[in-house]
Amino acid sequence: MSISTQSTDGRWSSRWLFVLAAAGSAVGLGNIWKFPYIAGENGGGAFVLIYLVCVACVGAPIMISEVMLGRKGRASPINTMRKLTQAAGASSRWTFLGWMGVLAGILILSYYAVIAGWALNYIWLTASGTFDSASAQVATTTFDQLQQDPLTMMGWHGVFMLITIWIVARGVSRGLETAIKWFMPLLFVLLLVLLAYSMNSGGFAQGWAFMFDFNWSVIGPETWLIAMGQAFFTLSLGMGTMMVYGSYVPEDSHIGSTVLTIVALDTFVAVAAGLAIFPLVFVNGLEVGQGPGLMFVTLPLAFGQLPMGAVFGTVFFVLVSFAAITSAISLTEPAIAYVVEEYNAKRSRVAISLGVFCWILGLGTVFSFNIWADVKPLLGLNFFELVDQLSQNIMLPLGGLLIALFTVWALPQTIVREQLEVGSDRVMLCWRVVGGVIAPLGVAAVFIYTLLPLFTG
Ligand code: PHE
Repeated sequence: MSISTQSTDGRWSSRWLFVLAAAGSAVGLGNIWKFPYIAGENGGGAFVLIYLVCVACVGAPIMISEVMLGRKGRASPINTMRKLTQAAGASSRWTFLGWMGVLAGILILSYYAVIAGWALNYIWLTASGTFDSASAQVATTTFDQLQQDPLTMMGWHGVFMLITIWIVARGVSRGLETAIKWFMPLLFVLLLVLLAYSMNSGGFAQGWAFMFDFNWSVIGPETWLIAMGQAFFTLSLGMGTMMVYGSYVPEDSHIGSTVLTIVALDTFVAVAAGLAIFPLVFVNGLEVGQGPGLMFVTLPLAFGQLPMGAVFGTVFFVLVSFAAITSAISLTEPAIAYVVEEYNAKRSRVAISLGVFCWILGLGTVFSFNIWADVKPLLGLNFFELVDQLSQNIMLPLGGLLIALFTVWALPQTIVREQLEVGSDRVMLCWRVVGGVIAPLGVAAVFIYTLLPLFTG
């Protein structure tokens, strides 16, 4: 197999478009649904502080490594790793990293599209007034009914996949860039609108306290691991997404400052989402539910009790859907870029095939909520839980660990200096300690922590 030197499908037209695209990948269900909840439950302000340390010491260095490898390799993650291992005289086994990323992207997309399909369904439900002055019973039953109905879930899962694949099939500049140019500014506007609405709801002080009051009593070693795992998923690290997006980055952009901007945007959205969500929950005297319940039961119920709730509830689910779409397109890119460059295949055909494949794979997740709920093939986990655990808790951390190790210990440091535009030896030493020691150790800790309970029960 020849190593294609031709660039993948295109280039971002500016550094800012890369920032928006990478932020689009990073900002997703992880920010709007997961972060607020785990921050509130794990010590509020104290957790936010720990999370920021994890982002700075583990997330940012790994993102810098991925973008750097991509920009140097200028190809899909698989071929980037092939080229760079050759240049470094390193073992070609590192290419495994690229393959694992492709697989992780496919697995994550298969269930991400199912959950995002629920959000699409909820745009319609909220807009049509299902939750107007609804009782808790109605909100719970609506969500239960959706989960018990594989056909409806398959339909919305299909709609989400169609939108994603339609954007991806159009290519980097006509598809990805155009979608990102529209969706990202809109996403920020919608978030600010919701924030303003929430500030006027009467529960803002309570919401603020829930997220930011320092509650040191619940902080323990586990908090660090939860924060690190979250930093990982939310920043889209460890599976080649940032590598392939990095391969489209213009030559003249400074990687360090660009990555810091992306990380800051992602964190801003996560915090703002929490501040938009919790006041609405508290002002209605509701419980901060766990998992999917917060977004699909508690929030619709809260919106339903508030003035103009149907309008703002709809705005909320449009926001979630936009965020999920810009993440989903980034999940497909490592695979699509590879097939297109390796086999000179037509991008639209590859995109459609991948979409159909992921949709079919996603049926396993759809059925995990109903007809296969009790089918637990391995480790007492159902299909959805298995795919989720394998991709999120095993493949992403392993990918991140190897990326950091490769960049610092296998890649010639002249390449790193040139890519990061670093002159000073002291800065290089600092980079090697953080990127080559602290970040891999941090990831290894998360890795062992999430893996052990799987086998010890
Ligand atoms: N970062 C996305 C989110 O927070 C999920 C994602 C993970 C996207 C890995 C791409 C790659 O929802």
